[in-house]
Amino acid sequence: MGIGATAGVAAVGGIALTAQASDDTSSNSSDSLAFDPDGYTELTTTITDADGTDHSVTYHFWKAITYVAKPVDATYQSLNVSVPVEIDGTAVDATNAPIVFANSVGGYMPSTVAEATGVGGGEMTGAPTGGTSASASPSASASSSTGTGEVQSGGNAMVNGMGAMVNLGKLGLAAGYVVVEPGARGRTLKNSAGEYYGVAPAAIVDLKAAVRYVRANKGRIPGNTDRIFSTGTSAGGALSSLLGASGDSPIYDKYLKELGAADASDAIFATGAWCPITDLEHADGAYEWNWGTNVTASTSKVVDQTVSKELQSQFAEYQASLKLRGLNGFGPLNARNYDEYLVKQYLEPSATTYLAALSDADRATYLAANTFITWSGGKATFSWADFLTHVGARKKTTPAFDAFDLSAGENNEFGKGTTIARHFTAYSLKNDTTGVTSKRLDSDIPEMLRLMNPMYHLVEKANPNRSKHWWIRLGTKDSDTSLTVAANIAAAANGLGDDVSHLYYWDEGHGSNTDPGDFIKWIAKVAGTGKKRGK
Ligand code: DHB
Repeated sequence: MGIGATAGVAAVGGIALTAQASDDTSSNSSDSLAFDPDGYTELTTTITDADGTDHSVTYHFWKAITYVAKPVDATYQSLNVSVPVEIDGTAVDATNAPIVFANSVGGYMPSTVAEATGVGGGEMTGAPTGGTSASASPSASASSSTGTGEVQSGGNAMVNGMGAMVNLGKLGLAAGYVVVEPGARGRTLKNSAGEYYGVAPAAIVDLKAAVRYVRANKGRIPGNTDRIFSTGTSAGGALSSLLGASGDSPIYDKYLKELGAADASDAIFATGAWCPITDLEHADGAYEWNWGTNVTASTSKVVDQTVSKELQSQFAEYQASLKLRGLNGFGPLNARNYDEYLVKQYLEPSATTYLAALSDADRATYLAANTFITWSGGKATFSWADFLTHVGARKKTTPAFDAFDLSAGENNEFGKGTTIARHFTAYSLKNDTTGVTSKRLDSDIPEMLRLMNPMYHLVEKANPNRSKHWWIRLGTKDSDTSLTVAANIAAAANGLGDDVSHLYYWDEGHGSNTDPGDFIKWIAKVAGTGKKRGK
């Protein structure tokens, strides 16, 4: 049960309660945000680990704790906590265990844990579309696949036809970690006055407030608050990267204060991000650079090549401005060499890992069907052009994120007040087809973009309080965004001296996670569980 003064003001039916007029400041709001160590129920469940082994896990479960003193909508601004006490009959002391901070955001939609009956029950809510209206989601598929066994779907498996998803909360709990599952507001939430109250920057502000809540309760809440590992997929991966990159950035302070967030650090130790859909204001150019000549799935045609080329030249300019260097001594990354970089650094190693794991017969069959791959000396090689042909149809039309007709989900993410969707790039504003007359982007847009973009914190700010450990994964057949988006986060963090593990999953699509067991082991390794000190 939620604690403190906020329990009674949970919004009903999605009606927003805007921050109450109050003289309260964050100092006494923190008092109402005390975690109740005794407020749990004890549950026992069977969790299948990543190797397929079943574990009987007894854990303490705290449900729907409102994590801010002045919630706008407590249905979303609440978190669940799960703490293992016995695994396979052996007592577990999780007092100092790493904390898996698993968001279930998908599609920048609202996500809630309020209805969960145990660990791993976070849900993305709202219509399963990538757009703002039914007609704006050609690629959406309302698949409700929940995966098999205990490794089940998170709510965001429903977005854009993502397949079954691994539940890292459950896997973390079975490994003996503390699991915190935060809900967060999302772009489709509208109050009775017609105002969109979950658009940018609501989701990241909420996740930060949840981290602050956990940290403010250090000593009361089990787990090591200096070893918070954030996880998320797609829009959730974007928010996880942003949470990692933006630790303690002052640009969120006024928003956190408005919510009555706990007065504590929101820096996290490590970031796990799967297929992050981020760097949104540069993603249209990156998308065309990557997938510009591939046909679009919904039309079987190539997109307007004039638009595609214009966007590609924006990518070239942007990529040069980042001044990033590739991993392993690749040197400066730019639009001319990024294809070679992706092939050498990520795609060929990914194919090699995939092929090496096959039986000789299966490998021979795969290679016979995919003659663009040369398999020699236990290594796969191929060209970028052949790789693009192999991936085939791209998922999105152009521009992929700031649609000329304002139909993309991201247009809604940058909505404001009663305006459901806005442009967030000058190019798409100029080419608007909806009758928007202004010549300039709205004056708050630059700030919203900074608030939502991990690259701002990594490149422009080199934020000293960012997470220093990064686990970034992406399927090679994922055309929800450009393959450069994840690689740029990795290159930026690596350039700052951080510990970066970035791999691509061969032939996997959007939302895949094929090495969750490795991630669970990585947590133990980088956390230095219970033995090492410092970051
Ligand atoms: C997601 C997918 C998208 O293609 C997108 O543009 C935004 C979010 C998602 O699956 O979360």
